[in-house]
Amino acid sequence: MNKTRPWWQNTTIYQVYPRSFYDSNGDGVGDLQGLIEKLPYLQNLGVETLWISPFFASPQQDFGYDISDYLNIDPAYGTLATVDSLIENCHNLGLRIVFDLVLNHTSNQHPWFLASQEDTKNAYADWYIWADKPNNWRSMTGGSAWHYHPKRKQYYLATFLPFQPDLNYQNPALQKAIFEVVSFWLQKGVDGFRLDIFNVLFKDPQLINNPKSTQFFPSEENPFGFFQKPVYNFNLPENKAFAQTLKALCNQYGEKLLLGEVTGPVADTKSFLGTTSKPGLDLVFSFEMLRFDFTASYFYALVEKMESHFAAPNIPVYTFNNHDRRRSFTRLKAAPKKAALLAAFLLTVRGVPSLYYGEEIGMEDLPLPYKTALDPIPHKNAWLPRWLTELFNETLNRDDVRTPMQWNAAKNAGFSVANQTWLPVHPNFITNNVAQQEQDAQALLGHYKSLLALRKANKAIHAGSLRLFPETLKQGVLSYIRCCENQNCWVFLNFSEQAVDISAHTKDLRLLLGSVNSGKLGPRAYAIFEEVL
Ligand code: NOJ
Repeated sequence: MNKTRPWWQNTTIYQVYPRSFYDSNGDGVGDLQGLIEKLPYLQNLGVETLWISPFFASPQQDFGYDISDYLNIDPAYGTLATVDSLIENCHNLGLRIVFDLVLNHTSNQHPWFLASQEDTKNAYADWYIWADKPNNWRSMTGGSAWHYHPKRKQYYLATFLPFQPDLNYQNPALQKAIFEVVSFWLQKGVDGFRLDIFNVLFKDPQLINNPKSTQFFPSEENPFGFFQKPVYNFNLPENKAFAQTLKALCNQYGEKLLLGEVTGPVADTKSFLGTTSKPGLDLVFSFEMLRFDFTASYFYALVEKMESHFAAPNIPVYTFNNHDRRRSFTRLKAAPKKAALLAAFLLTVRGVPSLYYGEEIGMEDLPLPYKTALDPIPHKNAWLPRWLTELFNETLNRDDVRTPMQWNAAKNAGFSVANQTWLPVHPNFITNNVAQQEQDAQALLGHYKSLLALRKANKAIHAGSLRLFPETLKQGVLSYIRCCENQNCWVFLNFSEQAVDISAHTKDLRLLLGSVNSGKLGPRAYAIFEEVL
């Protein structure tokens, strides 16, 4: 491995939603001990870094993204000792572990907020953002971001949901407290952090109104939408300076990963990254690809864009699934061949791949009614009919994508022995589960395992440069070459419904993975070749 490349450039990320992964104590809710028990599965799958969604003390109104104590574990998930054991077990198995840091807001039950809400004079009065009169800032989930608090007789700002008041990063005392939280976990040996809505931490202290825009529906490029440009509460320069300070703090503990959930145009998101002269975030997600088109030309354009924005020494993050958005297998209308092809792209392109639990077996969304959702989002947007969101191939109810992991065909898919699980198990678990796919060499799980192993074994794939090879695009085949000093890996991904003859390009190459038949790459098939230099 190239010594000058930090470990996180070569890694593969697997997101665990701990509530839904494995329930070790039979209460219907996944927990950290359950995750510990399943670590050998993840090691065997071949992923390298685990990102665990929040498990800190929380009233669970947004299932952990509403923290009431950054330094303690929610009893539903375990104790501090369980976290110590989780970190140790990961490291013993050669896995890295990254926590989810929710810095923009706390729960309204956090002692800091409980104190802050009392009056304008208390020690925590300026730890949150209060105003006598709301300005025009909108919440990311729709509606005004301001909420009246009768006790303090003022409005507080909540950029996400009303029970998640925004912390005031203009206050040095708050910043100090946050750095203490970060140090606490670094001392415990965590390998880094995924940073929740990181680019909205800082707000203009004068609370200036945002200018108007013509866009109502938020998009990946402008997640706020709602007819305004969020120039005073989004991507502020102070926020980038904060990224530098945070990274400098992490650097005191070794090579740690800072992975930003940073929304907005790529030009903005990449401005959070560190450079050789100043530290910053290491990686940022790009979410537009969650709504991919399943065509070679879409992925060709995506790679071109990512390569131009995240040229080496930077590296893009590729992801098609997370805990907020429709699962890729559902977008693909449950077509296993398409899913295997998408996996081949994800795991061979130049980038850090981020997988979401269950993706490797093609778990599907379970459409659950908006009215009875546990997720607060559909309740806040109760006016939006389901057919409208379906029209955009999206769901507002994030419960749909958070159902329990499907381990086997036993009760509750082997996730829990409880009579009732926190969310229902997808009924397709009887035929679609890990145990069943482990018996079937053709199953999606086998593709993920082989691709992850191939990636690990070949430097050109985990650390090489990328050159697009446009010659096959017209036939619906996306091709690129991953290159390092002594090896080229040629990747051919056939997005079309016809077999395509690629023999002209593969004469002197050795097949590493996938299948070709008399020089022909079958419909939706992939093949990866090696050229030894
Ligand atoms: C983004 C997270 O991904 C989402 O799940 C959460 O609800 C919000 N941030 C608020 O923390």
